[in-house]
Parts: sequence; structure tokens; C-alpha cells
Amino acid sequence: MNLKQSADPVQMEARRRVGVAAAALVENGMVVGLGTGSTAACAIAELGRRVREDGLRFIGVPTSWSAAELARQAGLDLRTLNDVDRVDIALDGADEVGPGLALIKGGGAAHTQEKIVATAARRFVVLADDGKLVDVLGVKWAVPVEVLGFALKAVERTLVAMGSVPVLRKGGGKDGPVVTDHGNLVLDAKFESIPDPAALARVLDAIPGVLEHGLFVDLADEALIGSRVDGSVRRIS
Ligand code: A5P
Repeated sequence: MNLKQSADPVQMEARRRVGVAAAALVENGMVVGLGTGSTAACAIAELGRRVREDGLRFIGVPTSWSAAELARQAGLDLRTLNDVDRVDIALDGADEVGPGLALIKGGGAAHTQEKIVATAARRFVVLADDGKLVDVLGVKWAVPVEVLGFALKAVERTLVAMGSVPVLRKGGGKDGPVVTDHGNLVLDAKFESIPDPAALARVLDAIPGVLEHGLFVDLADEALIGSRVDGSVRRIS
């Protein structure tokens, strides 16, 4: 099961530096996709600082209830995706960053909106500490699959037939399953490993009842990776 651990102080400092570097990419007049999770939250906080202290003006498009809440607290000017005619840049975290910048996302169950915003964006920048870099996706993380409640058991059986072990994500502070921002459920589908993310993504895309899954293939243009050793941030593309 995908259980996000709270980041330790060293990880959090790496993520904070990545967030600052990401916020520096935003220019006046841009429309910016605002990701979900602790790393994206660092970018949102820094964007708030730039708005207050540097007079930066831009429009943010949040990828979740949680991102919208943080962005409002940071004083950002927000719109929905339906209110804007473009997204210039999307800034978002990831749970695993693999070869070719293929990603597993959805640790916060926000991957459906995140993928829509990342796909709409002219430039999608992934934000992560170096502990998220992997040689092969899926060895540690399961692939979050957002499903319609009506289709839960049917999708579960399909995922088992594909060789994965799906687990219904349970709520914290709530009995029963996690319900996404769109009223759906999440199956965390653990595969042994995912050597060909594009092929698996195609199969998952074709399952009726699957809203979206957390494999992001050929979407990220670049990644900002924060070192937990020396605090540096490097860009990979
Ligand atoms: C949200 O659903 C996820 O895709 C997050 O972007 C991902 O889990 C990374 O979050 P952290 O930055 O908190 O690790």
C-alpha cells in the first residue's frame, strides 16, 4: 500500500529548496498549475512570498482541494482550468521519478487532476528530492488507480489478472476508503516492477471504470531534484 511517510527534516529542506527554485521559474502574467503534496506546497509557499514581497502577479490553477487551500492561504490568485485559456507551466511533485522522467504520482490521490493540468501545460516541471529517483518504477510504490465505485470489484479483478496486487486505499481520520476530490475510490496496484511504464499505462487507460492512474509517461519536460546531501538543486531533462 502507498503510505506517505512524513518527510524528515533533511528531506523537507531538500524539498523546500526545490520549491524555491521552482517558484523562480514563474514570471508575471503566467498561468501556473499548482501541484499537490509537500514538495509542491513548498513552491506554493514561495510563490506566496514572491507575490507579497516582489509584487509577482500570476494566476494559479490548483490540482486539488488541498493545493487550492494552501494557495488561498498564500494569497495567490486562483482560477479553475475551465477559466483559463492556457497553462504556461505546471509545478508538481512525484512519488517516484524513473528513467525518461516517467513518474508514479498520486500519493495524495490527486493524480487525476494533476495529470489533466500537466497535460494542458506547455511546460511540466517535476519537483522532488533525490530519494525519489529510481532505476525502475514500481519496485517500491504501487500505482494509484482512481476508479468509479460502481466499477471497483471489476477493476480490482482486472488488476489482479494483470499480475498486480491492488489494495483499496483507506482513509486516515475516517472509517472506510479514501474518497477522492471527485467522489471516486483509489486502488493502489502493486506490481513487482514496471520496466515499461508506457505499455502498462496503455493497458490501464483502456480499463472501463478507471478514471485515471498515477503513471505519468512522456509528460514531464524536466525535473528539479534536491540533494539531501549538500542542499543543491539540479535540473534534469
Ligand atoms: C499527489 O496526489 C501526489 O501526486 C504528489 O504530488 C506526490 O505524492 C508527491 O508528494 P510529496 O511531495 O509530498 O512527496
